[in-house]
Amino acid sequence: MDYRDIILHPATVHIPIGAIVAAACFVFYGWYRRLSDIEQAGYYLVIFGWVTLIPSIISGTIDAVNHLQNPRTPSDALNWINFHAACAIGLLVVLWLAWQLRRRMTGVVWEHPRYRQFLGYMALVLVLIFCSGWSGGYMVYTLQLGRLP
Ligand code: HEM
Repeated sequence: MDYRDIILHPATVHIPIGAIVAAACFVFYGWYRRLSDIEQAGYYLVIFGWVTLIPSIISGTIDAVNHLQNPRTPSDALNWINFHAACAIGLLVVLWLAWQLRRRMTGVVWEHPRYRQFLGYMALVLVLIFCSGWSGGYMVYTLQLGRLP
């Protein structure tokens, strides 16, 4: 068995996907119902989601390099990998911005003048996680990347 047969990426993506979707749901629900405990739980999930993104980005880069060296990889795979990787990097950046903005807010956070900006970042995070997951699924199930022969 070759080390390239060990597909780590699919095993590492589901924790950040779950944490990030839950973070956005908690933040929006907490803000909408003015429940500060729920909103704060969402903020902690933002941090957890950002940290768990790191292994998924490393494992995705390793898998992408392996696929691009493989002659059986379809020719349009590079475009999909680029789109998928751009969404992943965007996710890392926007989630970081959301974290840094929110961590400076104290007291009743939705009264902070920049709280709407934080909500905007979280909405963008939801779009990016959707694009990442959808393009990843397309590569696996349509382009057959990472599938056993
Ligand atoms: C630079 C970063 C990334 C690269 C280069 C990358 C690359 C890839 C590649 C090549 C695949 C095809 C399957 C495989 O060989 O593993 C894939 C699948 C996938 N990726 Fe990524 N990825 C990256 C980051 C992410 C992130 C941050 C997420 C979400 C948190 C993500 C979610 C997925 C999903 C859901 C699949 C489908 C897995 C399956 O259904 O088996 N990827 N990715």
